[in-house]
Amino acid sequence: MRLANRIEHLGTERAFAVSQAAREWAARGNRVYPLHLGDINLPTPANIVAAQQRAIAEGKTGYCAPAGIPELRAALAEDVGARRGLQYQPENVAVQPGGKPVITKFIQALINPGDEVLYPAPGFPIYESQIDYFGAVAKPYRFVETPRGFAIDLDFLSAQITPRTRALIFNNQQNPLAAEATDAELERLAELAIRHDLWVLADEAYFETRYSGESRSIVSLPGMQPRSVILYTFSKKFAMTGWRLGAAIAPARVSEIFAQLNVNDESCTAHFAQWAGVEAVRGDQAGARAICAQLRLCRDALFAAVADTPGLRAAKPESAFYLYVNVADAMDKRGFTDVNDFAAAALRETGVAFCTRRHFGRLLAGEAEHYARFAYSGISVDDIRDGMSRLRAWLDGADGPH
Ligand SMILES: Cc1ncc(COP(=O)(O)O)c(C=O)c1O
Repeated sequence: MRLANRIEHLGTERAFAVSQAAREWAARGNRVYPLHLGDINLPTPANIVAAQQRAIAEGKTGYCAPAGIPELRAALAEDVGARRGLQYQPENVAVQPGGKPVITKFIQALINPGDEVLYPAPGFPIYESQIDYFGAVAKPYRFVETPRGFAIDLDFLSAQITPRTRALIFNNQQNPLAAEATDAELERLAELAIRHDLWVLADEAYFETRYSGESRSIVSLPGMQPRSVILYTFSKKFAMTGWRLGAAIAPARVSEIFAQLNVNDESCTAHFAQWAGVEAVRGDQAGARAICAQLRLCRDALFAAVADTPGLRAAKPESAFYLYVNVADAMDKRGFTDVNDFAAAALRETGVAFCTRRHFGRLLAGEAEHYARFAYSGISVDDIRDGMSRLRAWLDGADGPH
């Protein structure tokens, strides 16, 4: 079969392979503890579901404006702006079928082949995939492990910038690290973006999934709004991953181009889902608060279990729903040198499924791989406790390679 050459450069989410392995293991009658899923096992709040049903009953089932219905654009402009201390107008909002399309449209609209794009490694793997696919040059930046969690190695990032660098992809409240920049780090990033005239994709998928303190956006810093595109999604805050509803919040001309890409790609985002989005943003927030409260219980249970397991080490995250765990000692204990072999054996021996560093983009030269991502959004507190006690028992009983 003769495929287009560019397909060679298209990446994927390799984490789906872990889901496949977990499904196969469960299909053979085994208990699986799903700590690999980036999905949420909670229902979408009832008022949002009802708004969609109303919209369908009212016949909101035809095409609508490519940039989104005016009501949703206005609601998002207000809400996203207010939470960041910024002014946005409806013209700044291009509704999308999820947050993910903002990544591909950012690259399509703003990046030429050969341009360099800085992106986090480890990070959400679609950044790298889309940079490669459109013929740009992927320039990963790295993180260092600190007592408060992971922090961007800003000197390294800065050294990666060349005259060909055109954009910075920045995911605060990060997947998979749950890393967040301090105020000083945000300022330094913004200063670099301005000095080198970079576009910034601010992936803020987890901006409102947090357990203490307040999220800060790089876009709120002086000089950043005109060079930034915010990735907004309903997926995480409102447990709406399968609805496919999100938006790009961008300078008006960029948002217009995103809408033109919508015309070419999907015409519009599902019309009735957008009415549910209006209810999500403007309606009763009790459902969103309950989702966050439940995720916090899961975070607490998982963090306590990891802290209690010799061989595992992680900082306590205050946002997103991941623990990025250093498993170097656990691998040593069981005699593994390959983190994916370790994960496969953990699934086989304990039923605990998790992703590893390898699922989050290419490795940097010399990068240590002994890390695993434990997601706590798709599993109950009881199952977190059960699964982690099995994992601990397996590690405690270590007597050499298995
Ligand atoms: C960092 C990050 N960005 C974007 C997305 C895309 O989410 P969605 O397309 O469901 O909005 C995800 C989903 O896991 C994510 O983790």
